[in-house]
Amino acid sequence: MAIYLGVETSCDETAAAVVRDGREVLSTRLLSQIPLHQQFGGVVPEVAARKHLETINLIIQDALDAAKIQPEDLTGIACTVGPGLVGTLLIGLSAAKALSWAWDRPLIAVDHLLAHVCANYLDTDLEPPFVALLVSGGHTQIIHFESYSVGRILGQTRDDAAGEAYDKVARLLGLGYPGGPAIDRLAPEGDPQAFKFPEGVVPGYDFSFSGLKTAVKRTIDRLEQPLPVADLAASFQDAVTRVLVKKTLQAQKELAVKRVVLAGGVAANRELRRKFEQQSPVPVFFPKMSLCTDNAAMVAAAAHFCGSAAALDVGVYSRQARQ
Ligand code: KG4
Ligand code: ZN
Repeated sequence: MAIYLGVETSCDETAAAVVRDGREVLSTRLLSQIPLHQQFGGVVPEVAARKHLETINLIIQDALDAAKIQPEDLTGIACTVGPGLVGTLLIGLSAAKALSWAWDRPLIAVDHLLAHVCANYLDTDLEPPFVALLVSGGHTQIIHFESYSVGRILGQTRDDAAGEAYDKVARLLGLGYPGGPAIDRLAPEGDPQAFKFPEGVVPGYDFSFSGLKTAVKRTIDRLEQPLPVADLAASFQDAVTRVLVKKTLQAQKELAVKRVVLAGGVAANRELRRKFEQQSPVPVFFPKMSLCTDNAAMVAAAAHFCGSAAALDVGVYSRQARQ
């Protein structure tokens, strides 16, 4: 039996969780900073780091108490080290390093993107191989996982990430931050055929969403007030989800893999899930809503399935290394 404590502070959620054998969530605790950053219309890194610093120890203790786990029961302490905001990552990593040293438990350095994919192992019996669509605020990638730890990137966005496109379009529509959930909620009230927005024509498995965002802006500029906000949201969402589903299922077919996995914040999107379930010839896995967006249970799962002990001088990184 392996029990990992996970710690996550890569952006605007302070999170800790305890997971058994990479599958069973014994506890998960999360303090969202969304209300704090809403007044600024987006995440302010310095404000986020200060808030993480205030709360990280309490969140970790709360997660351990809720799981009824003592430090000596832990197999290791897993912490996100990147990609993310350097200032916020350092808060979680410093806490994890201190506990690793004080409790004499190995420190496991976890990649945030791999952790999003590993959220799919929680409460399921999913095993590789599979094709994963990773759609977060900063990344959009189609990845072929042949084993737990080896993921080959088949394609990625050339400009904005899918989540970023949601956030930017939501701002144009006056829906505030974070934009993804707001568009997800409003779109069912609109007509997805009302406006024809481009999917972004890029060869292979790559994506481009900046043209779509510009097309929405141009349309808004020539429309009269009041804007048909629900129709715009529904038409934008239809264009994004159509291309995400099309390219992922192309990869699934070409590689003849038997499972498709969705990961990252945008995997919480109901229209994206609906299209996949409707169109995929193979089973589609997605984490439950609360495990799609940033959380620490996925970090503990990643430590179990693909982690190895790191030295106590391990650092953080803001961007993914080029592949
Ligand atoms: O994975 P995540 O929590 O953080 C990053 O690692 O970036 O993803 C956050 C992104 C944001 O852009 C947010 O707007 C988007 O995921 N998101 C959604 C939904 N929930 C969160 N996008 C569409 N529909 C949703 N329900
Ligand atoms: Zn994330």
